[in-house]
Amino acid sequence: MPNKIRYWAIIPAAGSSERIGTLVPKQYLPLDNTTVIEAAISNFLQHPKITGVIVALHPDDQHWGHLANTRNEKIHSVIGGESRAESVQNAINYLENTPAEDQDFVLVHDAARPCLRYTDLELLIQQLEQDDVGGILASPVSDTLKVVDNQNGSMNTVNKTLDRENVWRALTPQMFRLVTLKKALMHCVKHNIKVTDEASAVEHLGLKIKLVKGHGDNIKITHTEDLELAAAILKKIN
Ligand code: C5P
Repeated sequence: MPNKIRYWAIIPAAGSSERIGTLVPKQYLPLDNTTVIEAAISNFLQHPKITGVIVALHPDDQHWGHLANTRNEKIHSVIGGESRAESVQNAINYLENTPAEDQDFVLVHDAARPCLRYTDLELLIQQLEQDDVGGILASPVSDTLKVVDNQNGSMNTVNKTLDRENVWRALTPQMFRLVTLKKALMHCVKHNIKVTDEASAVEHLGLKIKLVKGHGDNIKITHTEDLELAAAILKKIN
């Protein structure tokens, strides 16, 4: 009999948050009575299907060890890399040394996304658990999106307008079979392809990725004003 499929969460948290411009990296900023990263991880700790949560930390991280909710037997930490993809790769290397199997699922979730609903996590798992490849939480865009010309000078100009009927925002978690994500990341390293999410890496293998419609308020903290918005969203959904 094949082993039971297991589910692992990977939380890339090794970014140094250059865009937000705070001294403390954005994943450690306070949010209500917790921090961004603790809020981001909480659903994975609660979910009975998640066996372990692998958090990739910056080599000089000075914050993780001081958090209240990091001493949980599901949590394991690894050192992250120079890019998000390298941080995820390091977590995968860790999983390969645990008894993780090729067909197990990994769910990669940004440390900077504190507003994931438990019900969206549940929906993602439910919709994809029989899938050979995997997929992502995503949300249709409501704004009209412009592709800009290469920036020259201070003013951008429009290159073209996207058909918004066909454009979705990629959210996280992004859920793939361990073997698929491993192959995809190796492929990108080999061909020197830079990716900003796991789905893009898997797309480069020519595989079709499912989109599971999640709530658009599963925002990523990028600017300081996002924190106020995140606090309001958490009040509404909790
Ligand atoms: O910078 P961005 O918002 O795209 O980062 C998304 C996630 O990837 C964050 O949780 C960040 O901490 C993580 N990351 C990482 N290792 C890096 C860069 C980013 O784990 N070298």
